[in-house]
Amino acid sequence: MRALPYLPFNVAQRVFPAAPVHRAPRFPASRVGRHGHAHGAAALCSTSKTNEGEKPVAKQIRIEHVFKVFGDQPQAALDLVQQGLSKQDILQRTGQSIGVFDAHFTIEAGEVFVIMGLSGSGKSTLVRLLNRLIEPTSGQIVVDGQDINQLNDRDLRALRRKDISMVFQSFALMPHMTVLDNTAFGLELAGVDKPTRQKAAQEALEQVGLGAWGASYPDALSGGMQQRVGLARALASDPSILLMDEAFSALDPIIRTEMQSEILRLQQIKRRTVVFISHDLDEAMRIGDRIAIMKDGQVVQVGTPDEILRSPANDYVRNFVRGVDAASVFKAADIARQAVTIISEHSDRGCRAALRLIEDSDRDHAYVVNSRKRYLGVVSSQSLRDALQGQPGMRALQHAFIPNAVPLASSTPVADLFGPVAAVPFPLPVVDEDGSFLGVVSRTTMLKFLDRDTPPVPPPQIEVPPIQLNPKFPVHAAEPAVAPHAQPAAPVHNQTGDAA
Ligand SMILES: Nc1ncnc2c1ncn2[C@@H]1O[C@H](COP(=O)(O)OP(=O)(O)O)[C@@H](O)[C@H]1O
Ligand SMILES: [Mg+2]
Repeated sequence: MRALPYLPFNVAQRVFPAAPVHRAPRFPASRVGRHGHAHGAAALCSTSKTNEGEKPVAKQIRIEHVFKVFGDQPQAALDLVQQGLSKQDILQRTGQSIGVFDAHFTIEAGEVFVIMGLSGSGKSTLVRLLNRLIEPTSGQIVVDGQDINQLNDRDLRALRRKDISMVFQSFALMPHMTVLDNTAFGLELAGVDKPTRQKAAQEALEQVGLGAWGASYPDALSGGMQQRVGLARALASDPSILLMDEAFSALDPIIRTEMQSEILRLQQIKRRTVVFISHDLDEAMRIGDRIAIMKDGQVVQVGTPDEILRSPANDYVRNFVRGVDAASVFKAADIARQAVTIISEHSDRGCRAALRLIEDSDRDHAYVVNSRKRYLGVVSSQSLRDALQGQPGMRALQHAFIPNAVPLASSTPVADLFGPVAAVPFPLPVVDEDGSFLGVVSRTTMLKFLDRDTPPVPPPQIEVPPIQLNPKFPVHAAEPAVAPHAQPAAPVHNQTGDAA
Protein backbone atom coordinates (compact mmCIF):
# COMPACT_ATOMS: atom_id res chain seq x y z
CA MET A 1 0.00 0.00 0.00
CA ARG A 2 0.94 3.62 -0.40
CA ALA A 3 3.47 4.91 2.10
CA LEU A 4 2.09 7.39 4.57
CA PRO A 5 3.79 10.71 4.92
CA TYR A 6 3.89 10.81 8.69
CA LEU A 7 4.09 7.23 9.74
CA PRO A 8 6.88 5.26 8.20
CA PHE A 9 5.53 2.06 9.58
CA ASN A 10 2.50 0.40 8.29
CA VAL A 11 -0.47 1.23 10.42
CA ALA A 12 -2.98 2.87 8.15
CA GLN A 13 -4.87 -0.18 7.10
CA ARG A 14 -5.96 -0.64 10.67
CA VAL A 15 -6.92 2.87 11.41
CA PHE A 16 -10.03 3.16 9.28
CA PRO A 17 -12.56 2.22 10.31
CA ALA A 18 -11.60 -0.34 12.91
CA ALA A 19 -9.57 1.82 15.21
CA PRO A 20 -10.53 5.47 15.30
CA VAL A 21 -7.65 7.62 16.43
CA HIS A 22 -9.80 10.01 18.26
CA ARG A 23 -12.23 9.77 21.10
CA ALA A 24 -15.37 7.78 20.42
CA PRO A 25 -18.13 8.10 19.44
CA ARG A 26 -17.11 9.94 16.32
CA PHE A 27 -19.07 10.77 13.26
CA PRO A 28 -18.91 8.38 10.39
CA ALA A 29 -16.09 9.29 8.05
CA SER A 30 -17.61 12.18 6.21
CA ARG A 31 -18.59 12.37 2.63
CA VAL A 32 -16.71 15.57 2.40
CA GLY A 33 -13.83 15.43 0.01
CA ARG A 34 -10.44 16.97 0.20
CA HIS A 35 -11.57 20.33 -0.89
CA GLY A 36 -14.58 20.55 1.24
CA HIS A 37 -17.21 19.62 -1.30
CA ALA A 38 -19.86 17.36 0.03
CA HIS A 39 -20.31 14.44 -2.30
CA GLY A 40 -23.29 12.83 -0.70
CA ALA A 41 -26.43 14.70 0.15
CA ALA A 42 -28.24 13.90 3.35
CA ALA A 43 -25.38 12.38 5.30
CA LEU A 44 -26.49 13.17 8.80
CA CYS A 45 -29.15 15.62 7.86
CA SER A 46 -31.77 14.76 10.35
CA THR A 47 -31.91 16.83 13.43
CA SER A 48 -30.70 14.86 16.38
CA LYS A 49 -32.63 14.68 19.61
CA THR A 50 -31.51 14.50 23.18
CA ASN A 51 -31.77 11.32 25.17
CA GLU A 52 -35.05 12.34 26.67
CA GLY A 53 -36.37 13.05 23.19
CA GLU A 54 -37.20 16.60 24.23
CA LYS A 55 -36.44 19.74 22.25
CA PRO A 56 -34.39 18.95 19.15
CA VAL A 57 -30.85 20.05 19.77
CA ALA A 58 -28.21 19.97 17.14
CA LYS A 59 -28.79 21.50 13.75
CA GLN A 60 -27.04 21.06 10.46
CA ILE A 61 -25.42 24.03 8.71
CA ARG A 62 -24.84 23.93 4.98
CA ILE A 63 -22.48 26.49 3.57
CA GLU A 64 -23.14 26.66 -0.17
CA HIS A 65 -20.65 28.40 -2.43
CA VAL A 66 -20.37 31.34 -0.09
CA PHE A 67 -18.35 34.41 -1.00
CA LYS A 68 -17.91 37.48 1.15
CA VAL A 69 -16.32 40.53 -0.38
CA PHE A 70 -15.54 43.59 1.73
CA GLY A 71 -15.68 46.77 -0.27
CA ASP A 72 -18.03 48.82 -2.39
CA GLN A 73 -17.69 46.85 -5.63
CA PRO A 74 -18.26 43.25 -4.67
CA GLN A 75 -19.52 42.33 -8.13
CA ALA A 76 -16.31 43.52 -9.78
CA ALA A 77 -14.39 41.32 -7.38
CA LEU A 78 -16.62 38.31 -8.03
CA ASP A 79 -16.20 38.76 -11.78
CA LEU A 80 -12.46 38.54 -11.30
CA VAL A 81 -13.00 35.46 -9.14
CA GLN A 82 -14.79 33.92 -12.14
CA GLN A 83 -11.71 34.69 -14.21
CA GLY A 84 -9.61 32.80 -11.73
CA LEU A 85 -7.77 35.67 -10.08
CA SER A 86 -6.42 35.23 -6.56
CA LYS A 87 -7.49 37.14 -3.48
CA GLN A 88 -4.27 39.16 -3.59
CA ASP A 89 -4.66 40.06 -7.26
CA ILE A 90 -8.25 41.11 -6.74
CA LEU A 91 -7.28 43.30 -3.81
CA GLN A 92 -4.59 44.98 -5.89
CA ARG A 93 -6.79 45.54 -8.92
CA THR A 94 -10.00 46.58 -7.25
CA GLY A 95 -9.30 47.35 -3.60
CA GLN A 96 -11.94 44.77 -2.70
CA SER A 97 -10.98 42.39 0.08
CA ILE A 98 -12.26 38.88 -0.19
CA GLY A 99 -13.06 37.60 3.27
CA VAL A 100 -14.48 34.23 2.21
CA PHE A 101 -13.90 32.66 -1.17
CA ASP A 102 -16.25 29.92 -2.37
CA ALA A 103 -16.72 28.12 0.93
CA HIS A 104 -18.75 24.99 0.30
CA PHE A 105 -19.16 22.33 2.94
CA THR A 106 -21.60 21.00 5.51
CA ILE A 107 -21.35 21.08 9.27
CA GLU A 108 -23.33 18.10 10.48
CA ALA A 109 -25.83 18.24 13.30
CA GLY A 110 -24.11 17.53 16.59
CA GLU A 111 -20.50 17.65 15.53
CA VAL A 112 -17.72 19.77 16.92
CA PHE A 113 -16.46 21.45 13.79
CA VAL A 114 -13.22 23.39 14.06
CA ILE A 115 -12.25 26.13 11.60
CA MET A 116 -8.53 26.79 11.52
CA GLY A 117 -6.19 29.00 9.59
CA LEU A 118 -3.63 31.74 10.01
CA SER A 119 -4.73 35.17 11.12
CA GLY A 120 -6.60 36.91 8.29
CA SER A 121 -7.58 33.69 6.55
CA GLY A 122 -11.30 34.40 6.91
CA LYS A 123 -12.30 32.35 9.97
CA SER A 124 -14.15 35.12 11.79
CA THR A 125 -15.80 36.26 8.58
CA LEU A 126 -17.07 32.77 7.95
CA VAL A 127 -18.42 32.28 11.45
CA ARG A 128 -20.18 35.67 11.40
CA LEU A 129 -21.93 34.61 8.22
CA LEU A 130 -23.37 31.66 10.10
CA ASN A 131 -25.60 33.79 12.31
CA ARG A 132 -25.97 36.51 9.70
CA LEU A 133 -24.01 39.11 11.60
CA ILE A 134 -22.81 39.74 8.08
CA GLU A 135 -24.41 38.61 4.84
CA PRO A 136 -22.74 36.74 2.04
CA THR A 137 -22.01 38.57 -1.20
CA SER A 138 -23.19 35.41 -2.87
CA GLY A 139 -24.03 31.87 -1.84
CA GLN A 140 -26.26 30.51 0.88
CA ILE A 141 -26.10 29.56 4.53
CA VAL A 142 -28.72 26.92 5.19
CA VAL A 143 -29.50 26.02 8.82
CA ASP A 144 -31.60 22.87 9.09
CA GLY A 145 -32.97 23.37 5.61
CA GLN A 146 -33.67 27.10 6.00
CA ASP A 147 -31.67 29.69 4.07
CA ILE A 148 -31.01 32.17 6.86
CA ASN A 149 -30.60 35.08 4.49
CA GLN A 150 -34.24 34.68 3.51
CA LEU A 151 -35.45 35.10 7.09
CA ASN A 152 -37.34 38.26 7.98
CA ASP A 153 -36.12 40.29 10.94
CA ARG A 154 -38.43 38.61 13.38
CA ASP A 155 -37.42 35.10 12.37
CA LEU A 156 -33.79 36.09 12.33
CA ARG A 157 -34.04 37.36 15.89
CA ALA A 158 -35.78 34.16 16.90
CA LEU A 159 -32.99 32.13 15.27
CA ARG A 160 -30.34 34.03 17.19
CA ARG A 161 -32.26 33.85 20.41
CA LYS A 162 -33.20 30.20 20.32
CA ASP A 163 -30.82 28.42 18.03
CA ILE A 164 -27.47 30.16 17.78
CA SER A 165 -25.25 31.50 20.53
CA MET A 166 -21.82 32.95 20.10
CA VAL A 167 -18.90 33.00 22.52
CA PHE A 168 -16.02 35.37 21.88
CA GLN A 169 -12.48 35.47 23.13
CA SER A 170 -12.97 38.79 24.85
CA PHE A 171 -16.37 39.39 26.25
CA ALA A 172 -17.15 41.85 28.95
CA LEU A 173 -18.71 40.73 32.18
CA MET A 174 -20.46 43.66 33.80
CA PRO A 175 -18.52 44.31 37.02
CA HIS A 176 -21.52 45.71 38.88
CA MET A 177 -23.75 42.75 38.03
CA THR A 178 -23.71 39.41 39.81
CA VAL A 179 -22.47 36.33 38.02
CA LEU A 180 -26.07 35.13 37.77
CA ASP A 181 -27.26 38.40 36.22
CA ASN A 182 -24.29 38.42 33.87
CA THR A 183 -25.22 34.92 32.77
CA ALA A 184 -28.84 35.94 32.29
CA PHE A 185 -27.88 39.10 30.44
CA GLY A 186 -28.52 37.81 26.94
CA LEU A 187 -31.92 36.52 27.95
CA GLU A 188 -32.69 39.83 29.60
CA LEU A 189 -31.94 41.66 26.35
CA ALA A 190 -34.17 39.13 24.61
CA GLY A 191 -37.03 40.19 26.87
CA VAL A 192 -37.26 36.96 28.85
CA ASP A 193 -38.97 37.50 32.21
CA LYS A 194 -36.86 37.53 35.34
CA PRO A 195 -37.81 34.22 37.00
CA THR A 196 -37.42 32.32 33.71
CA ARG A 197 -34.08 33.85 32.82
CA GLN A 198 -32.67 33.43 36.32
CA LYS A 199 -33.64 29.80 36.32
CA ALA A 200 -32.06 29.26 32.91
CA ALA A 201 -28.92 31.17 33.98
CA GLN A 202 -28.61 29.12 37.17
CA GLU A 203 -28.88 25.90 35.17
CA ALA A 204 -26.26 27.13 32.73
CA LEU A 205 -23.92 28.05 35.60
CA GLU A 206 -24.38 24.58 37.03
CA GLN A 207 -23.51 23.06 33.66
CA VAL A 208 -20.15 24.81 33.70
CA GLY A 209 -19.45 24.04 37.35
CA LEU A 210 -20.20 27.49 38.74
CA GLY A 211 -23.54 26.74 40.38
CA ALA A 212 -22.38 28.17 43.69
CA TRP A 213 -21.10 31.46 42.28
CA GLY A 214 -24.30 33.09 41.08
CA ALA A 215 -24.38 35.68 43.82
CA SER A 216 -20.72 36.64 43.46
CA TYR A 217 -19.37 39.48 41.37
CA PRO A 218 -17.03 38.92 38.43
CA ASP A 219 -13.95 40.29 40.20
CA ALA A 220 -14.15 37.37 42.65
CA LEU A 221 -13.59 34.95 39.75
CA SER A 222 -10.35 33.81 38.14
CA GLY A 223 -9.83 34.30 34.41
CA GLY A 224 -10.79 30.72 33.67
CA MET A 225 -13.96 31.04 35.74
CA GLN A 226 -14.87 34.23 33.93
CA GLN A 227 -14.53 32.41 30.63
CA ARG A 228 -16.86 29.78 32.02
CA VAL A 229 -19.38 32.52 32.74
CA GLY A 230 -19.03 33.56 29.09
CA LEU A 231 -19.80 30.00 28.11
CA ALA A 232 -22.71 29.79 30.56
CA ARG A 233 -24.11 33.00 29.09
CA ALA A 234 -24.11 31.37 25.68
CA LEU A 235 -25.63 28.18 27.06
CA ALA A 236 -28.40 29.98 28.97
CA SER A 237 -30.62 30.13 25.90
CA ASP A 238 -30.05 26.40 25.35
CA PRO A 239 -28.90 26.92 21.78
CA SER A 240 -28.69 24.15 19.21
CA ILE A 241 -25.67 25.80 17.62
CA LEU A 242 -22.74 27.21 19.54
CA LEU A 243 -20.32 29.45 17.66
CA MET A 244 -17.01 30.01 19.40
CA ASP A 245 -14.58 32.48 17.87
CA GLU A 246 -11.16 31.81 19.44
CA ALA A 247 -13.00 31.61 22.71
CA PHE A 248 -10.12 29.94 24.54
CA SER A 249 -7.18 31.52 22.76
CA ALA A 250 -6.42 34.01 25.51
CA LEU A 251 -6.48 31.47 28.32
CA ASP A 252 -3.35 29.98 29.79
CA PRO A 253 -2.63 26.42 28.65
CA ILE A 254 -3.95 24.54 31.67
CA ILE A 255 -7.22 26.42 31.87
CA ARG A 256 -7.51 26.14 28.14
CA THR A 257 -7.23 22.36 28.24
CA GLU A 258 -9.76 22.37 31.05
CA MET A 259 -12.20 24.38 28.93
CA GLN A 260 -11.69 22.05 25.97
CA SER A 261 -12.62 19.14 28.22
CA GLU A 262 -15.59 21.16 29.38
CA ILE A 263 -16.86 21.44 25.81
CA LEU A 264 -16.43 17.70 25.29
CA ARG A 265 -18.22 16.99 28.55
CA LEU A 266 -21.11 19.29 27.64
CA GLN A 267 -21.38 17.49 24.30
CA GLN A 268 -21.85 14.24 26.18
CA ILE A 269 -24.71 15.71 28.16
CA LYS A 270 -26.41 17.42 25.25
CA ARG A 271 -25.13 17.31 21.73
CA ARG A 272 -25.00 20.66 20.02
CA THR A 273 -23.54 21.71 16.74
CA VAL A 274 -20.36 23.47 17.82
CA VAL A 275 -18.43 25.63 15.38
CA PHE A 276 -15.13 26.33 17.04
CA ILE A 277 -12.54 28.67 15.63
CA SER A 278 -8.97 28.14 16.62
CA HIS A 279 -5.52 28.67 15.27
CA ASP A 280 -4.09 25.97 17.49
CA LEU A 281 -3.93 22.60 15.77
CA ASP A 282 -3.52 20.66 19.00
CA GLU A 283 -6.74 22.20 20.24
CA ALA A 284 -8.44 21.43 16.92
CA MET A 285 -7.22 17.83 16.96
CA ARG A 286 -8.34 17.39 20.52
CA ILE A 287 -11.88 18.62 20.28
CA GLY A 288 -12.76 18.55 16.58
CA ASP A 289 -14.86 15.82 15.05
CA ARG A 290 -13.86 17.47 11.82
CA ILE A 291 -11.65 20.36 10.92
CA ALA A 292 -11.74 22.87 8.07
CA ILE A 293 -8.50 24.59 7.20
CA MET A 294 -8.73 28.06 5.65
CA LYS A 295 -6.22 30.02 3.64
CA ASP A 296 -6.83 33.40 2.02
CA GLY A 297 -10.57 33.04 2.42
CA GLN A 298 -10.66 29.58 0.91
CA VAL A 299 -11.41 26.35 2.68
CA VAL A 300 -8.49 24.25 1.53
CA GLN A 301 -9.36 21.03 3.32
CA VAL A 302 -12.15 19.55 5.39
CA GLY A 303 -11.60 16.29 7.19
CA THR A 304 -11.37 14.39 10.42
CA PRO A 305 -8.26 15.12 12.49
CA ASP A 306 -6.51 12.06 11.26
CA GLU A 307 -7.51 12.51 7.63
CA ILE A 308 -5.86 15.91 7.83
CA LEU A 309 -2.86 14.59 9.66
CA ARG A 310 -2.34 11.67 7.32
CA SER A 311 -3.10 13.27 4.00
CA PRO A 312 -2.72 17.03 4.10
CA ALA A 313 -4.23 18.54 0.93
CA ASN A 314 -1.31 20.89 0.23
CA ASP A 315 1.82 22.46 1.68
CA TYR A 316 -0.13 25.01 3.69
CA VAL A 317 -1.98 22.26 5.52
CA ARG A 318 1.21 20.23 5.76
CA ASN A 319 2.90 23.15 7.50
CA PHE A 320 0.09 23.30 10.00
CA VAL A 321 0.26 19.60 10.59
CA ARG A 322 4.03 19.60 11.12
CA GLY A 323 3.50 21.45 14.33
CA VAL A 324 1.07 19.01 15.81
CA ASP A 325 1.91 17.09 18.90
CA ALA A 326 1.42 13.74 17.17
CA ALA A 327 2.10 11.81 20.35
CA SER A 328 -1.12 13.13 21.79
CA VAL A 329 -3.14 12.64 18.61
CA PHE A 330 -2.13 9.07 17.84
CA LYS A 331 -3.29 6.35 20.15
CA ALA A 332 -1.87 2.99 21.14
CA ALA A 333 -4.20 1.29 18.64
CA ASP A 334 -2.65 3.29 15.80
CA ILE A 335 0.85 2.08 16.37
CA ALA A 336 0.20 -1.44 17.64
CA ARG A 337 1.75 -4.08 15.41
CA GLN A 338 0.33 -7.55 14.85
CA ALA A 339 3.64 -9.12 13.86
CA VAL A 340 4.05 -11.21 16.96
CA THR A 341 3.55 -14.80 17.95
CA ILE A 342 0.00 -15.33 19.09
CA ILE A 343 -1.01 -18.49 20.84
CA SER A 344 -4.60 -19.47 21.03
CA GLU A 345 -5.32 -20.92 24.44
CA HIS A 346 -6.64 -24.36 23.89
CA SER A 347 -6.78 -27.42 26.07
CA ASP A 348 -4.17 -29.27 24.03
CA ARG A 349 -1.78 -26.30 23.96
CA GLY A 350 0.28 -26.64 27.08
CA CYS A 351 3.55 -25.00 27.94
CA ARG A 352 5.52 -27.48 25.89
CA ALA A 353 3.64 -26.70 22.68
CA ALA A 354 3.95 -22.99 23.37
CA LEU A 355 7.67 -23.28 23.92
CA ARG A 356 8.07 -25.04 20.60
CA LEU A 357 6.06 -22.32 18.86
CA ILE A 358 8.22 -19.57 20.34
CA GLU A 359 11.43 -21.32 19.43
CA ASP A 360 10.22 -22.02 15.89
CA SER A 361 9.24 -18.41 15.38
CA ASP A 362 12.62 -17.25 16.69
CA ARG A 363 11.09 -14.85 19.18
CA ASP A 364 11.39 -14.42 22.91
CA HIS A 365 7.76 -13.87 23.75
CA ALA A 366 4.32 -14.94 22.72
CA TYR A 367 0.90 -13.46 23.41
CA VAL A 368 -1.87 -15.73 24.52
CA VAL A 369 -5.46 -15.11 23.47
CA ASN A 370 -8.63 -17.17 23.86
CA SER A 371 -10.82 -18.41 21.04
CA ARG A 372 -12.60 -15.02 20.95
CA LYS A 373 -9.27 -13.20 20.57
CA ARG A 374 -9.41 -11.81 24.11
CA TYR A 375 -5.96 -11.15 25.49
CA LEU A 376 -4.96 -13.47 28.32
CA GLY A 377 -1.27 -13.03 28.97
CA VAL A 378 2.34 -12.97 27.79
CA VAL A 379 4.70 -15.94 28.01
CA SER A 380 8.43 -16.11 27.32
CA SER A 381 10.63 -19.09 26.61
CA GLN A 382 12.05 -18.66 30.09
CA SER A 383 8.68 -18.44 31.84
CA LEU A 384 7.52 -21.54 29.93
CA ARG A 385 10.62 -23.51 30.91
CA ASP A 386 10.18 -22.44 34.54
CA ALA A 387 6.58 -23.61 34.48
CA LEU A 388 7.54 -26.92 32.92
CA GLN A 389 9.98 -27.54 35.73
CA GLY A 390 7.44 -26.67 38.42
CA GLN A 391 4.87 -28.73 40.29
CA PRO A 392 2.85 -31.17 38.15
CA GLY A 393 -0.40 -29.21 38.67
CA MET A 394 1.24 -25.94 37.65
CA ARG A 395 2.12 -26.69 34.05
CA ALA A 396 -0.88 -25.13 32.32
CA LEU A 397 -0.19 -22.15 30.12
CA GLN A 398 -1.57 -19.58 32.57
CA HIS A 399 1.07 -20.57 35.13
CA ALA A 400 3.69 -19.32 32.70
CA PHE A 401 2.19 -15.83 32.32
CA ILE A 402 4.66 -13.06 33.02
CA PRO A 403 3.32 -11.14 36.02
CA ASN A 404 3.84 -7.49 35.03
CA ALA A 405 2.45 -7.61 31.50
CA VAL A 406 -0.32 -5.07 32.04
CA PRO A 407 -2.04 -4.46 28.70
CA LEU A 408 -2.32 -0.96 27.25
CA ALA A 409 -5.76 0.43 26.48
CA SER A 410 -6.17 1.07 22.76
CA SER A 411 -7.17 4.69 23.37
CA THR A 412 -4.05 5.60 25.37
CA PRO A 413 -2.24 8.49 23.67
CA VAL A 414 1.19 7.54 22.37
CA ALA A 415 2.59 10.24 24.65
CA ASP A 416 1.57 8.16 27.66
CA LEU A 417 3.13 4.93 26.41
CA PHE A 418 6.81 5.76 26.87
CA GLY A 419 6.89 4.96 30.59
CA PRO A 420 5.09 1.59 30.52
CA VAL A 421 6.85 0.42 27.37
CA ALA A 422 10.28 1.30 28.72
CA ALA A 423 9.58 -0.45 32.02
CA VAL A 424 9.37 -4.00 30.66
CA PRO A 425 11.74 -6.00 28.43
CA PHE A 426 9.03 -7.17 26.02
CA PRO A 427 6.54 -5.43 23.74
CA LEU A 428 3.36 -4.56 25.66
CA PRO A 429 0.01 -5.87 24.42
CA VAL A 430 -2.69 -3.41 23.31
CA VAL A 431 -6.32 -4.32 23.94
CA ASP A 432 -9.54 -2.60 22.97
CA GLU A 433 -12.50 -1.96 25.26
CA ASP A 434 -13.76 -5.54 25.26
CA GLY A 435 -10.30 -6.92 25.91
CA SER A 436 -9.61 -8.00 22.32
CA PHE A 437 -5.96 -8.25 21.45
CA LEU A 438 -4.99 -5.61 18.89
CA GLY A 439 -1.22 -6.06 18.72
CA VAL A 440 1.83 -4.92 20.61
CA VAL A 441 3.88 -1.79 21.12
CA SER A 442 7.61 -2.28 21.43
CA ARG A 443 10.44 0.10 22.25
CA THR A 444 11.42 -0.01 18.58
CA THR A 445 7.92 1.08 17.59
CA MET A 446 8.19 4.02 19.97
CA LEU A 447 11.59 5.02 18.59
CA LYS A 448 10.28 4.87 15.04
CA PHE A 449 7.40 7.06 16.07
CA LEU A 450 9.80 9.67 17.42
CA ASP A 451 11.80 9.47 14.24
CA ARG A 452 8.95 10.56 12.00
CA ASP A 453 9.45 13.79 10.09
CA THR A 454 6.95 15.47 12.37
CA PRO A 455 8.75 17.00 15.31
CA PRO A 456 7.22 15.92 18.60
CA VAL A 457 7.21 19.45 19.94
CA PRO A 458 5.17 22.04 18.06
CA PRO A 459 7.13 25.04 16.78
CA PRO A 460 5.90 28.49 17.77
CA GLN A 461 2.70 29.58 16.02
CA ILE A 462 3.38 31.63 12.91
CA GLU A 463 1.18 34.68 12.74
CA VAL A 464 1.00 36.27 9.32
CA PRO A 465 -0.37 39.77 9.55
CA PRO A 466 -3.56 40.13 7.53
CA ILE A 467 -3.81 42.51 4.63
CA GLN A 468 -4.94 45.85 5.98
CA LEU A 469 -7.56 47.14 3.63
CA ASN A 470 -9.00 49.79 5.79
CA PRO A 471 -6.53 50.85 8.46
CA LYS A 472 -9.41 51.75 10.75
CA PHE A 473 -10.77 48.23 10.64
CA PRO A 474 -9.76 46.43 13.82
CA VAL A 475 -8.54 43.17 12.38
CA HIS A 476 -7.84 41.55 15.72
CA ALA A 477 -10.89 42.80 17.47
CA ALA A 478 -13.19 40.00 18.38
CA GLU A 479 -16.32 42.05 17.90
CA PRO A 480 -18.19 42.14 14.63
CA ALA A 481 -17.76 44.84 12.02
CA VAL A 482 -20.67 46.84 10.78
CA ALA A 483 -22.92 44.90 8.49
CA PRO A 484 -26.49 45.24 7.25
CA HIS A 485 -28.00 43.18 10.02
CA ALA A 486 -25.29 43.50 12.59
CA GLN A 487 -26.29 44.10 16.14
CA PRO A 488 -24.36 46.26 18.53
CA ALA A 489 -21.19 44.46 19.49
CA ALA A 490 -22.05 42.16 22.35
CA PRO A 491 -20.70 38.93 23.65
CA VAL A 492 -23.72 36.79 22.92
CA HIS A 493 -25.64 37.23 19.74
CA ASN A 494 -28.89 35.57 20.45
CA GLN A 495 -30.13 38.31 22.61
CA THR A 496 -32.12 40.79 20.58
CA GLY A 497 -35.52 41.62 21.95
CA ASP A 498 -38.37 39.59 20.53
CA ALA A 499 -40.46 38.75 23.52
CA ALA A 500 -42.25 35.63 22.48
N1 LIG B 1 -15.20 44.63 7.82
C1 LIG B 1 -14.13 44.37 7.04
N2 LIG B 1 -13.69 45.25 6.13
C2 LIG B 1 -12.66 45.01 5.34
N3 LIG B 1 -11.95 43.86 5.36
C3 LIG B 1 -12.33 42.93 6.26
C4 LIG B 1 -13.43 43.13 7.14
N4 LIG B 1 -13.56 42.00 7.92
C5 LIG B 1 -12.58 41.17 7.53
N5 LIG B 1 -11.86 41.72 6.53
C6 LIG B 1 -10.73 41.08 5.84
O1 LIG B 1 -11.13 39.76 5.53
C7 LIG B 1 -10.04 38.87 5.70
C8 LIG B 1 -10.40 37.81 6.70
O2 LIG B 1 -10.49 38.36 8.00
P1 LIG B 1 -10.98 37.55 9.28
O3 LIG B 1 -12.18 36.78 8.90
O4 LIG B 1 -11.06 38.46 10.42
O5 LIG B 1 -9.77 36.53 9.46
P2 LIG B 1 -9.40 35.59 10.71
O6 LIG B 1 -10.55 35.56 11.64
O7 LIG B 1 -9.09 34.29 10.07
O8 LIG B 1 -8.19 36.18 11.34
C9 LIG B 1 -8.86 39.72 6.12
O9 LIG B 1 -8.12 40.00 4.97
C10 LIG B 1 -9.51 40.96 6.71
O10 LIG B 1 -8.68 42.07 6.60
MG1 LIG C 1 -10.64 36.07 13.70
